[in-house]
Amino acid sequence: MTDLQALIIPDKVPRHIAIIMDGNGRWAKQKGLPRVLGHRSGVKSVREVTEAAAEIGVEYLTLYAFSTENWNRPPAEVTALMSLLVETIRGEIRDLNKNGVRLAAIGDLEALPKASHTALLEGIEKTKNNTRITLVLALNYSAKWEILRATRLLAEQAAQGLLKPADIDEHIFENALSTCGIPDPELLIRTSGETRISNFLLWQIAYAELYFTSVFWPDFGRRELHEAILSYQRRERRFGMISEQVG
Ligand code: FPP
Repeated sequence: MTDLQALIIPDKVPRHIAIIMDGNGRWAKQKGLPRVLGHRSGVKSVREVTEAAAEIGVEYLTLYAFSTENWNRPPAEVTALMSLLVETIRGEIRDLNKNGVRLAAIGDLEALPKASHTALLEGIEKTKNNTRITLVLALNYSAKWEILRATRLLAEQAAQGLLKPADIDEHIFENALSTCGIPDPELLIRTSGETRISNFLLWQIAYAELYFTSVFWPDFGRRELHEAILSYQRRERRFGMISEQVG
């Protein structure tokens, strides 16, 4: 428990936090280490932040672990990231179960290398009965891919006469997204000082509070999560209304 945890208002903890984990490479470079050691240290942050989020009652934590655009990185780094994913999932299943963490994933999962896909499905299956927190890994994910996929799916249903185009509303569209059944994140965090969304959850963050910190992901832990939540709790979320209506 950090000294900040006592300041968090339990009733105002976001149900869903999404994080763009950024800065592993720069963290490593600063220390004269290979980039892959930055990713390895990033796994420690994943562990600590997942536990910290569960402790204060966050129900869903979505982490941007590999974007569609990340395939363009040097092949050795892509291979290292995929191996790290397999190794991490396999190595963590026991702790995930001990800590009540249900694993889930969004993205074009079938296009992942076979070993990563298999490890992921195994992790999801073996943790499916946990209820304390859901850890959603965004893998081979991009929001534009997801929105196009949903559009195609609904267009096909309409073409088959299963759906009238005029009936497509927010609810139907949301059910066609890969986050179907998961509430929208109230808070989106990006580490490392970059202030972009980078094709992450574009539909779902329509009303999310954005929190940017210069801390690199391997240095982001319990305390930094508490700081982000306190910043979120100080804000007034008006959803297009005026202050007096929401106060
Ligand atoms: C961004 O840092 C990080 C990634 C693209 C990958 C994140 C992956 C992990 C933390 C490890 C695997 C995760 C799980 C959930 C098992 P960057 O490489 O873009 O850093 P840079 O911008 O400083 O180069």
